[in-house]
Amino acid sequence: MTGHTTEAATPPGSRPSVVLGVSGGIAAYKACELLRRLTESGHDVTVVPTAAALEFVGAPTWAALSGKPVATDVWTSVHEVPHVRIGQSADLVVVAPATADLLAKAAHGLADDLLTSTLLTARCPVVLAPAMHTEMWEHAATQANVETLRSRGVLVVEPAEGRLTGKDTGKGRLPEPAALFEVCTDVLARGAVPADLVDRHVVVSAGGTREPLDPVRYLGNRSSGRQGYALARAAAARGASVTLVAANVDLPDPAGVSVVRVGTTAELRDAVVAAASTADAVVMAAAPADFRPTDVSGAKIKKTADGSAPTIALVQNPDVLHEISTHRARAGSVIVGFAAETGDATGTVLDLARAKLARKGCDLLVVNDVSGGAVFGSSDNEAVILGADGGSREVPHGTKHALAHVIWDEVAHRWAPGFAP
Ligand code: CTP
Repeated sequence: MTGHTTEAATPPGSRPSVVLGVSGGIAAYKACELLRRLTESGHDVTVVPTAAALEFVGAPTWAALSGKPVATDVWTSVHEVPHVRIGQSADLVVVAPATADLLAKAAHGLADDLLTSTLLTARCPVVLAPAMHTEMWEHAATQANVETLRSRGVLVVEPAEGRLTGKDTGKGRLPEPAALFEVCTDVLARGAVPADLVDRHVVVSAGGTREPLDPVRYLGNRSSGRQGYALARAAAARGASVTLVAANVDLPDPAGVSVVRVGTTAELRDAVVAAASTADAVVMAAAPADFRPTDVSGAKIKKTADGSAPTIALVQNPDVLHEISTHRARAGSVIVGFAAETGDATGTVLDLARAKLARKGCDLLVVNDVSGGAVFGSSDNEAVILGADGGSREVPHGTKHALAHVIWDEVAHRWAPGFAP
């Protein structure tokens, strides 16, 4: 594992202590929502805005939402030595939005106000969520600062693409507060920013594809996309550049993830194959429809007067997992499939899963036993991860997020030098 990890300072049972730094950008207003989510979920939050941040959102707002006084400089309550104490006692420091100026100061160790001093004294995980215009984000100086910070173990969340201040659109938006909140709780739960996926490009597919029958109907399935979204979130939190191919998912975009939306299996196939050409890992968590109607009716299919049911001819869709596993775009890439099995007369869940792993040609297969009930739509999961090398790992009942991290542990293990399949 690369990067810096630090154990969280929170004793069991006490409220995690979070410093929310806010620097001077228009996205400061979104930090109010992040603050509200953190306090409402039981975190003890100290807001440290820069002087410029207060031009956008005033100190009374931060004080009211956090229930604590707010200072920006090191000259307030000097006897409490706040420029050292706030950073030292935090379990997490998150800066949202982090401006280009804040990133530059953090990268170079400048400490001319309370927030930058706090960043220098913090020994806990640090999350920076940049927001700025695309030109500033892409500037070589900013990119070099981001690289420096990441190399020191800071989690720098990729900005989202979309509407910026004024009429501009592009990369540089602050991810939505709900997504940043998830990043914060993930880092707090793990007590560290594991940076073992830095410099890796990973692709995750999620959701269920829909095959149109006519302008209003489709063949589909009940996949919610939650496991795929958890995988994308976990990979981004571990430093990966993530492409999430999402089929009909009704969940907010995870922070720092590039989302490609698709509808049908053919569209999903094209998006996954394109992204796989530069990917170090592909995880197929989506449930692609195996069949599509041979013909899509241009008009709504009507009931017949005699009550006879229409016959719908189907044609088989491409098997994406099989294709990307057997025609590897990159040597050394790790390909992961999922299988929801019930077992039948021909074999147990694990027998069928082993056969599927061999048939698909992937490196890992995450197997859910669905005989006892539905996994669809639930936020929990329980699985066995089978390896093409013959290994297997049982993952006990837990959240889809916890399972996501175990899957990335297994992927990272396969990248390690000396791993022989
Ligand atoms: N998959 C895929 N392309 C398809 C169907 C499935 O890439 N057309 C992937 C899924 O994303 C999953 C894995 O294959 O990672 C296993 O899905 P599953 O539906 O269990 O596989 P099938 O080949 O359809 O097997 P079965 O005949 O048991 O339904």
